[in-house]
Amino acid sequence: MRAIASAPGKVILFGEHAVVFGHPAVAACIDQRTRVEVDVVGSRFTVNGHRLHERYHSYIKTAVDRLWKGDPVRIQTEGGIPSASGTGSSAALTTATVAALHRLQGITDNARLAQDAFMVERVTQGGGSPIDTSVSTAGGAIAIAGKEAPPNVGDPLWDITWEDRAWSVESLAMPGLTVVVGNSGVKGKTDVEVAKVAHNAARNPLVRDTLQDIGSIARDAVPALRTGDWETVGRLMSKQHDCMHMIGVNHPEVQKLVVAVRDAPGTLGAKITGAGGGGSMVAITDNPARAAAVIEAAGGRAFIVRLGGGGATLHAP
Ligand code: PMV
Repeated sequence: MRAIASAPGKVILFGEHAVVFGHPAVAACIDQRTRVEVDVVGSRFTVNGHRLHERYHSYIKTAVDRLWKGDPVRIQTEGGIPSASGTGSSAALTTATVAALHRLQGITDNARLAQDAFMVERVTQGGGSPIDTSVSTAGGAIAIAGKEAPPNVGDPLWDITWEDRAWSVESLAMPGLTVVVGNSGVKGKTDVEVAKVAHNAARNPLVRDTLQDIGSIARDAVPALRTGDWETVGRLMSKQHDCMHMIGVNHPEVQKLVVAVRDAPGTLGAKITGAGGGGSMVAITDNPARAAAVIEAAGGRAFIVRLGGGGATLHAP
């Protein structure tokens, strides 16, 4: 028995960290994917030829422990999304793994995939929202917010719950967009950054207000995203970046890239994307090649990525 699935990485365009507290956020998937092949072999659990081990394969181990009751499986993974970079490598790996394990058990329901993939990510990393795993499941772009104040911008996809929290996820139709992602090369840790922001928010009302502002910026960005008003989108991205910087969600190496690209001809806006503490920034620009060159000159690795495309997909074994 064999199942093969793939799932895309993502960029968060608006609302990271704020979404953990139920404020709105927007993410789109990127044209880089992770592919996972699962074979039921009956001897021992392996990943890419090595024994399945929590330290090296934390997300896969959680997925197997929680979602697989059958004989041992051999798992092969393939993909080029850089890890800990803010472009959703762990969500793509988790979502593709869960999709393949689901397929072997005859489950083909995307709402269940999104819920289980989030459960695996949350158990493994200990914090965060379903934004990454939901966009990797759904494809295209999504808007997400706490269930008590849903985004109300597109077709409802699913609600995701965790303990006493719930988020509503909707699809967001937007015109095609190419952005430039700049990876600082510094590996950020999502769990550490999420815990840091939660710690500061619990003690400092200014941090709580700023998280709310970030959510408002995400809400304001939706009409511009829908109509392809990239100037407004860019301006709001830069505004959100400054909010994140103010509450300590940044890294000097990422800030260097943001500052450099903001001054480049054609740049409409730029911000850190993902949890921070390193990782990547994303720029919206009329001149992607120019922005990519500026990012590289400032010491980053640039990727010109097309947003949108398919979500989690099963492939013929
Ligand atoms: O570090 P990333 O790219 O997985 O982004 C995390 C986004 C956060 O809002 C900081 C956490 C979350 O899960 O929503």
